[in-house]
Amino acid sequence: MAPRGHHLTEVALLASASADLAAAGAGEREGWLDDPAVLPSLGPRARALAVASAARSVLVIVPVAGGGGGGVTVEPALGPEEGRISAVEWVPLTAEEHGEGEDGVVVVVGTDTGWLLFYSLAGDLLHKQSIYPAKILKLNYRERKENAWEDSGSDELSIVFPGVIARFDGADLQRILQKSFQDVKSRLWKDKFEEEDAADEGSFGRIHFQIWNVSKFGSCADAAIVGLMPPPLLELQSSQRHYCAITVGEDAVVSAYRLSEDRSRSLVGAILSRGVAATFSTISSLSKILWRSEPSPPKKSRPKPQSFAKTSPLTCLKDSPRKGERLILSPSGTLAAITDSLGRILLLDTHALVAVRLWKGYRDASCLFVEMLLNKDKASSSSMHIEYTKRDYCLCLAIHAPRKGIIEVWKMRTGSRILTIPCPKGSRILQPSARLSSSFSYAPLEVYLFNGDSGQLSVLNSHLG
Ligand SMILES: *[C@@H]1O[C@H](CO)[C@@H](O)[C@H](O)[C@H]1NC(C)=O
Repeated sequence: MAPRGHHLTEVALLASASADLAAAGAGEREGWLDDPAVLPSLGPRARALAVASAARSVLVIVPVAGGGGGGVTVEPALGPEEGRISAVEWVPLTAEEHGEGEDGVVVVVGTDTGWLLFYSLAGDLLHKQSIYPAKILKLNYRERKENAWEDSGSDELSIVFPGVIARFDGADLQRILQKSFQDVKSRLWKDKFEEEDAADEGSFGRIHFQIWNVSKFGSCADAAIVGLMPPPLLELQSSQRHYCAITVGEDAVVSAYRLSEDRSRSLVGAILSRGVAATFSTISSLSKILWRSEPSPPKKSRPKPQSFAKTSPLTCLKDSPRKGERLILSPSGTLAAITDSLGRILLLDTHALVAVRLWKGYRDASCLFVEMLLNKDKASSSSMHIEYTKRDYCLCLAIHAPRKGIIEVWKMRTGSRILTIPCPKGSRILQPSARLSSSFSYAPLEVYLFNGDSGQLSVLNSHLG
């Protein structure tokens, strides 16, 4: 690891992976990473980088270690029905059997017609599912294990559409993906024909999910599920789960909703879809053998969209002509940083649903929460082997302001700016979707900087000074 300035440490130089990254547009022109249709996403523990290109319809996965050689380029089979890639995210597989192995992660791609495609690091299609016929604006995997002593909900993958939000429970996701992982391994002997056929949704099960209409105050540009929330007063007896969702968008800068889980659906739906899926795949594999010479398998129609579960609007903050653009949640979900069309950044307390802070003059900014070591005493007296706990870290917000060419770090909630560092053009700030903390050492929330032109991937040092 080479030092770079005081505040960034180089993790890898991915230029040597340019043959792989070039498939996603790297090196074609300066500032290729500024293209909003280029979607970078950093894997758990920053071990791999995925870059998708909507225009080229490719997904490139490069390992970060070893200079980024040995990447995989996937060209998802996207017909007119599946549309173009519009979002990318990483999902860690948590089963013991995967242990520390590099196999324990999956990359999920969302499309602008509402399909999800899950890939292994080797580029095998593990799962494909139609969610809702609209553009997937964001995929977000969240770990919810931090508050193990209270029910903070389970890990989840949320899928944001304009005015609609869907949620996969981590456990449902794990079950199907683990199984596909094993299936793919045992299917290696199969020929090309069958591989292609397997890309039909009918041959995969359906992962159960919940979906809500959150467009009461207008469609949204971004949204997030903040966490669990108490049931409404008259329903205290019910064991149904409720989530709080925050949306940002054109008509209402910020709105909040209570999302209620549709219990009946989760039971009946799960049983039905599993039964049907099993029968269906048996039939389809039989027909595969019988109709081998057929040039294209019969096209199955896209499943009907699932009906919405109950949503209750909680509040909305209108501030025309300001439009909410992007929303980033703090790890516990108690704070959200919201950027808007007038170059402002709003810090929202998501429990009280009040704005606690406002920054101005940050057009096109992107924000990420980060944990910094501010406990100077411990830091300065430290030997190499000191173990830091969560309490040693202070939650901060990193703001990348591309027009100013800087990254700033501000202490939460009301603290001062503790850092300003220059940031070259054509760079993006990234954060692994999962930290995978072990019980032995605390893994702080980190922010990485990927310079698309130089290929340099750096991490923001959590130590100040
Ligand atoms: C979602 O809800 C809004 C009003 O709350 C309604 O106007 C709209 O038609 C609904 N969308 C769908 C797809 O049902």
